[in-house]
Amino acid sequence: MTDTHADADLDMDLSAAGDDWRPTPHGRFLARVLSQHDFARGKDVLELGAGVANHTILLLRQEPRSLVATEILPELLDSTRANVERNCGTDQPIEYRVADWLSTEGEFDLVVTNPPFCKSGKQNRRYFIDSLILDTHKRLRPGGELVFIQSSMADVQKTLARLDENGFDARVVDTSEGPFRDYYFQDEAFMAESKRVPDGFKIKDGVHIETLSVIHAKLRPFTPHEGAHIPAERGDS
Ligand SMILES: C[S@@+](CC[C@H](N)C(=O)[O-])C[C@H]1O[C@@H](n2cnc3c(N)ncnc32)[C@H](O)[C@@H]1O
Repeated sequence: MTDTHADADLDMDLSAAGDDWRPTPHGRFLARVLSQHDFARGKDVLELGAGVANHTILLLRQEPRSLVATEILPELLDSTRANVERNCGTDQPIEYRVADWLSTEGEFDLVVTNPPFCKSGKQNRRYFIDSLILDTHKRLRPGGELVFIQSSMADVQKTLARLDENGFDARVVDTSEGPFRDYYFQDEAFMAESKRVPDGFKIKDGVHIETLSVIHAKLRPFTPHEGAHIPAERGDS
């Protein structure tokens, strides 16, 4: 199956095929926030899980120094590339890379992503968010930045506390409320987990509503403690 649509607000033509992730309200809201800021200008950027390039295109319009766009499978990355080339041409400072989340090379100024959550497929549904919090520093230069979106159902307060514990100054850039996706109700475990999250969602006039938050986090300078197990010169402390 191939479907094509024009995102009029953001002035882009996107096509999706097969198992491509079709942008949901999460992706659309992150796109809106990215279009209102200039996070990528002049920077070396890593975008994780680029999907149909709905964010890649916006990031390229900000004229980064370089951009690495990743996906977990080559065929998903083919769609990223096709959409970038249709909207931005082929003369762009972009590299397309198949990679499993942060298991990739390089040092960057900015990491951007809409991480899998409800359908993360992991025992810890927050796995991709927690992985960002624990390991993005390995891919970031000192003072590097992380921009991502998450639902209130993934516990924003937990995320902000863990970012702080792991050396990031973090803030919520913007929020947006919206109704649940239909597939939330089909996953009983997800619904049960969400009920246990403080302020995970609300019900207004019988409609279940989640809040989406775009989070911007900046890595604080850090020197490993004297006698740390891993020598500082390894650079991945
Ligand atoms: C929530 S979707 C976001 C897609 C797109 N950026 C958007 O916002 O519409 C998550 C994306 O991450 C990709 N993905 C899933 N697991 C991954 C992994 N281990 N490493 C890299 N990408 C992964 C999926 O294929 C999917 O395109």
